[in-house]
Amino acid sequence: MSNPIKKDMQHIAIISSSVRKGRNSHRTALYFRNFIETANLASVEILDLKEYNFPLFEERLRLFENPTAGMLDFSAKVKAADGIIIVTPEYNGGYPASLKNVVDLLYEEWRRKPIAITTNSDGSFGGTQVITSLQFSLWKIGAWTVPAMFPVPKIQETFDENGMPADKAKTDKRATTFINELLWCMEAAKRMRP
Ligand SMILES: Cc1cc2nc3c(=O)[nH]c(=O)nc-3n(C[C@H](O)[C@H](O)[C@H](O)COP(=O)(O)O)c2cc1C
Repeated sequence: MSNPIKKDMQHIAIISSSVRKGRNSHRTALYFRNFIETANLASVEILDLKEYNFPLFEERLRLFENPTAGMLDFSAKVKAADGIIIVTPEYNGGYPASLKNVVDLLYEEWRRKPIAITTNSDGSFGGTQVITSLQFSLWKIGAWTVPAMFPVPKIQETFDENGMPADKAKTDKRATTFINELLWCMEAAKRMRP
């Protein structure tokens, strides 16, 4: 699960949110990991909520008496990341409980963190109805949501199960625009750090 953070390189953590058996949106997480690695844009790792398998939210981590190793690991990785990509499916017009579970678990770790959101669905609209509710929660907790979108409609046709895009040129072009916004915000955040 862990990748060493390369020195002098910005680090991106990709949060893969779906914990559903047979999930498809994880393909987008695999695609972005590969895209960032291949272009050598940053060091990158996937924080897979299915692997973390967190229990249902009970209390914020900072007030938790006996946090699990997984919670501490997730907290440290979110904190250490210079930027985050959240890959979320759309479930009934919103984002999944697995994602709200970790948004609420952390607090300071999210503060001023550049976060780019990619929404996913098996239908035609690419899960875009998720944006307003997820952005609002992230804004409320003090994160810095990047004004770029990467909706993925018909996810099962857009990427194969290893994250290989059906139309590489078109997908890479969209990904470049999306990632450039995130990298810009990561650079701006870095320059503001004391
Ligand atoms: C509980 C549930 C609700 C869903 N609601 C929507 C929806 O509102 N809009 C939509 O486009 N797709 C919806 N889908 C389909 C997902 O877009 C589809 O499962 C897609 O592959 C992304 O989710 P996954 O990563 O869990 O596979 C729903 C799927 C589930 C399991």
